[in-house]
Amino acid sequence: MPRPTALASFDDLAPELADFRADVLRGLGEEPKNIPCKYFYDERGSDLFQEICGLPEYYPTRTETALLRDLAPQLGALAGPGCFLIEYGTGSSEKMRIVLDALDDPAAYAAVDISREHLLEATTALAEDRPGLAVHAVCADFTQPFEVPDVGTGGPGRRIAFFPGSSLGNFTPEDSVAFLATAARVVGPGGAMLIGIDLKKDEKILNAAYDDVQGVTAAFNVNLLARVNNELGGTFELGAFRHHAFYDAREGRIEMHLVSTRAQTAEVAGRTFAFAEGETIHTENSYKYGVDEFRDLARRAGFTPVKAWTDARDLFSVHYLSVADQAPTDEGMSS
Ligand code: AVJ
Repeated sequence: MPRPTALASFDDLAPELADFRADVLRGLGEEPKNIPCKYFYDERGSDLFQEICGLPEYYPTRTETALLRDLAPQLGALAGPGCFLIEYGTGSSEKMRIVLDALDDPAAYAAVDISREHLLEATTALAEDRPGLAVHAVCADFTQPFEVPDVGTGGPGRRIAFFPGSSLGNFTPEDSVAFLATAARVVGPGGAMLIGIDLKKDEKILNAAYDDVQGVTAAFNVNLLARVNNELGGTFELGAFRHHAFYDAREGRIEMHLVSTRAQTAEVAGRTFAFAEGETIHTENSYKYGVDEFRDLARRAGFTPVKAWTDARDLFSVHYLSVADQAPTDEGMSS
């Protein structure tokens, strides 16, 4: 795909259809059955996720946005001039714009996202609005190692990774440390990270956030099977699977599943999978962390926690983490 002219660069490292097929076939062959949550975000899935972000029950988006507005003046001072902002996921251009506005004369912005249409829309709009800012787009699956294009900072400023939305929660704690360690290497010595993390809280609030009354989250979940049908020639009967989401306090995570409402089979790419009544496909984990719990995770990845902000109701947190000027040598950096 050619680079839209407004962008300083566009790298297309999107997963191939073959990767999607291999991941679905592997996951459905496992016990319990599962499909990686990164495949939620086709065009329809990205639209449904945007809709989730505006739901009354889904507090994370609006709480984090308000927190970013409040902390913006402090962020400018912490980050310094001429930064290069690297955003993982392009969930909400509103949050990204709050951060860019808070920064002192940012030199460049790069977005890394698995959803190509969404990525190009968001980055092209930004580049057109801000002719002075170098805007880079990288279509990639950031749960896998990928080469970060060396676009430079265009200035002396630090590199700051921005990872909003508590998307880190979709990794296991162990994978989170590995991901953070990679991000620490990407921003390098003197770099920083601004990251949103959903807090542990009353289970009723958590359960409602992942099972809204309008059924948008249910549609988002079931859309994964629609995508399998469309792209992999699947034969899932969409009406025969129901959305189930619940908080597991022991694991500290929300789990989302698709429950087979009866005994049935479905074919994918020529292979047949049998489902017992009540059997599920595990489609997502969303881990929640206390402030200190997350700080420990960040330290294990080679970051130094500098500051954390929470809202008055203790629903959500935003952390500013830094990487020491001298490259740390601890083992977290090598994973
Ligand atoms: C992608 C991490 C922002 O786990 O809360 C929303 C995805 N899943 N509702 C989350 C999601 C169901 C979401 N994030």
